[in-house]
Amino acid sequence: MERTHVPVLPTEVVEFLKLEQVNGGLFVDCTLGEGGHSALLLEHSPDSRLIGVDADATMIERARSFLGPLSSRVEFVQAWYDEFWNSYSGPRPHRILFDLGISTFHLSASGRGFAFRGDEPLDMRLSDSVRSAAELLENLSQEDLADILYVYGEERYSRRIAAAILRARDEHALRTTRDLAETVASAVPAAYRRGRNNPATRTFQAIRIAVNSELERLRAALPSALAALSADGGRMGVITFHSLEDRLVKWAFRAASGDDSAVGRSAVTAKHSNASKFAPKLIDTMVLPAGERIRILTRKPVLPSDEEVSANPASRSAKLRVVEKGTVEESR
Ligand SMILES: C[S@@+](CC[C@H](N)C(=O)[O-])C[C@H]1O[C@@H](n2cnc3c(N)ncnc32)[C@H](O)[C@@H]1O
Repeated sequence: MERTHVPVLPTEVVEFLKLEQVNGGLFVDCTLGEGGHSALLLEHSPDSRLIGVDADATMIERARSFLGPLSSRVEFVQAWYDEFWNSYSGPRPHRILFDLGISTFHLSASGRGFAFRGDEPLDMRLSDSVRSAAELLENLSQEDLADILYVYGEERYSRRIAAAILRARDEHALRTTRDLAETVASAVPAAYRRGRNNPATRTFQAIRIAVNSELERLRAALPSALAALSADGGRMGVITFHSLEDRLVKWAFRAASGDDSAVGRSAVTAKHSNASKFAPKLIDTMVLPAGERIRILTRKPVLPSDEEVSANPASRSAKLRVVEKGTVEESR
């Protein structure tokens, strides 16, 4: 078995999470994947323990194998991270990391239909506790599908593509990822088809986000994770790959730091507002345990260097935001 996923922003994660300060601490990696970031956390803090969470049982097994001897300091938990935080009652973690989305393994080797290349079942599930892309597409109205493509995929041809997908569905011509990719290609202008990215890129991303309720889960998890974080200099980092994710994280951190300017705002911009049924509301207020406060350490998100992007193109849209927890007393 070979590792397929290269962890993004490795140097920046180590630096911003100040790992050397927490020896003997507790880390939570909410998106374990193949364990690349977890390995970094454990190697930089030799007496710390880690809880590694992933919705996907296959990733848990891959991480266990890649982490090798480091696994002895890891508790592996197969769960959606929002559900994990909802029921978490353990000791307060000193470091929490989210590295959102899916791993390279999902795209290249899972056989679960995440990629538009190849010919796989329309699945796209990270865990079989949710319904597959095929089931989702079977039940969506054209209008809702168009809104999903527009909001989650920022797909400008959302309406045409949604109409073509529903036509293909009704003609029983939508069985595999190849059918879906070809349906999308047939629905968009020739210039778009010949563009830099495959025309189905945004459609696949949007459907995957909907299948796994990715934004709702993030929205639900952030407040509980921030509340659980140790108030003794605990740090939490979130790496996003999508503008809606980044907006959710940015405003959640602001709300946690006492900035109430997100109140009543939606995570979508005005031009998307007619499709706002699918856009998560921003987290505009957050109640932390009494006497605790959050300080934002990254006013602007941390981006990968040019060297990282050329070595690992999958990192190109990554953005890291980090906060630190303290007590109100300390900040006086
Ligand atoms: C980008 S990968 C993480 C890669 C990891 N940092 C590494 O270095 O190998 C994201 C992982 O999070 C998992 N995931 C995505 N959304 C999740 C959720 N809501 N709850 C739990 N796991 C989730 C995916 O299954 C995937 O393995």
